[in-house]
Amino acid sequence: MRQKVVAGNWKMNNTLGETKKLLKSLKKELKGLKLVDTRVIIAPSFVNLQHTVKKTENSIIEVSAQNLHQATNGAFTGEISVDMLLDIGVNTVILGHSERRAYFNETDEALAQKVNTAIGSGLDVIFCFGEQLEDRQNEKHFEIVESQLKEALFALSSEAYKNIILAYEPVWAIGTGQTATADQAQEMHKFIRSILAKNYDEKLANSVSILYGGSVKPNNAEEIFSKPDVDGGLIGGASLKAKDFSAIVKSI
Ligand code: 13P
Repeated sequence: MRQKVVAGNWKMNNTLGETKKLLKSLKKELKGLKLVDTRVIIAPSFVNLQHTVKKTENSIIEVSAQNLHQATNGAFTGEISVDMLLDIGVNTVILGHSERRAYFNETDEALAQKVNTAIGSGLDVIFCFGEQLEDRQNEKHFEIVESQLKEALFALSSEAYKNIILAYEPVWAIGTGQTATADQAQEMHKFIRSILAKNYDEKLANSVSILYGGSVKPNNAEEIFSKPDVDGGLIGGASLKAKDFSAIVKSI
């Protein structure tokens, strides 16, 4: 049975004060919720990770970072290492987000290194990828997604996939309110499983959780999550509101 995951990517939002408030509401909304084989993860900014880990200790909420550096330590001013995350109790990291690729020039090569560093230290990785609008318009979306996965992940051993969650996030659906239809998500997720089967095997392909991300809201989550190859969501805007995020969690 594949694990289901609902993860909230807070991006560059929430001061410490706002983080405290949101955590309080979120814990209230999710209190008593019994989930089977489902992970609920939130990814606040680096400066608010430690506080969030402490405040979520006795809850179903796990904490993820939004990035890390590929080197284990050294002269990389302004960067954060895997050990710094592990040391404060963070067990997951988001890598490959389209905003990191677009605004911070993260290449497939750098991402492959980051994934290796994270997995090598026992961190789980939520690995994001997805096509741009023009790729889809030119019917290149399958090709682009295959290449993003191949370049960053396909040198990994099968064993490494125990720590990998995939997140298909079509760039045209992120923060635009224009979500992919549930059928478009299913079509791509099925394709992703087929290339995992081709490069590894059927068993591995069926064991990896694949999330959909891009304008998931309480009113469309249930339909998207109902698709057989969609194992949950990576939520941006709606994860900043306790009621919306918990409604999405409850629709898994
Ligand atoms: P939105 O849910 O705001 O579209 O963002 C999706 C996303 O980028 C999650 O990583």
